[in-house]
Amino acid sequence: MNVPNHIAIILDGNGRWAKAKGMPRSYGHVKGCANLETICDDMKELGVKYLTVYAFSTENWKRSREEVEGLMKLFRNYLKKCIKIAEKNKMKVKIIGDISAFDADIRQKIVELEEFSKDYTELHFQIALNYGSRDEIVRGMRRMALDAAEGRLRPEEIEENTIENYLDTAGIPDPDLLIRTSGEQRLSNFLLWQLAYTEFYFTDVPWPDFHKEELVKAIETYNHRDRRYGGVKEE
Ligand code: IPE
Ligand code: IPE
Ligand code: MG
Repeated sequence: MNVPNHIAIILDGNGRWAKAKGMPRSYGHVKGCANLETICDDMKELGVKYLTVYAFSTENWKRSREEVEGLMKLFRNYLKKCIKIAEKNKMKVKIIGDISAFDADIRQKIVELEEFSKDYTELHFQIALNYGSRDEIVRGMRRMALDAAEGRLRPEEIEENTIENYLDTAGIPDPDLLIRTSGEQRLSNFLLWQLAYTEFYFTDVPWPDFHKEELVKAIETYNHRDRRYGGVKEE
């Protein structure tokens, strides 16, 4: 099996999964968060080098106060616990997104986790929190415009990799495979620039039920894809 170097996942369907069990949405988030731990182990075992997950979007603040508060509580617990998981899997954790919107204690936990795990290289694990691709581009372009205005960057020097360097994902290779669970077939503002040549895999399985067998199925499907990057298939 040819394992993709970088897998990105839109973790969707926690709410519907819980509702189908007659449980509150928050229960789905708890189970979804637990599944994130397991999937990191699976990725490492399979030899995936980069994993990026979409856990909270810039649009997710629109949810009820109760749901948002529940998610913040879960992030607090998870970020703390993630230090142990990072140590176990030798994984470097990076948060992408605009973390300035979070409470100070959450921001602090992010700093601690990133600092603790910064020298690990087995698995590079990016968690998108308060992430929106358009917001990422706006933030990046503001910094780029400032560098140009202050004479550090000449407009004629701007190339594709210059733009990449201003994104939250600077230095991280583009995903090879994008998985979205729970049936929806849209990007919901995830990695618009980075997914330009990524293969997409959609499954009806909701995130809390997406286990290793499902992951292997996604990778096997990916193995049958014919990636061309605009060229012609070699016979
Ligand atoms: C994904 O599950 C987790 C977050 C977006 C935080 P959802 O909460 O979107 O679950 P559904 O899509 O409503 O079932
Ligand atoms: C996308 O899921 C964001 C995350 C998984 C964090 P949503 O459930 O928020 O997306 P929509 O609203 O169905 O497009
Ligand atoms: Mg959803």
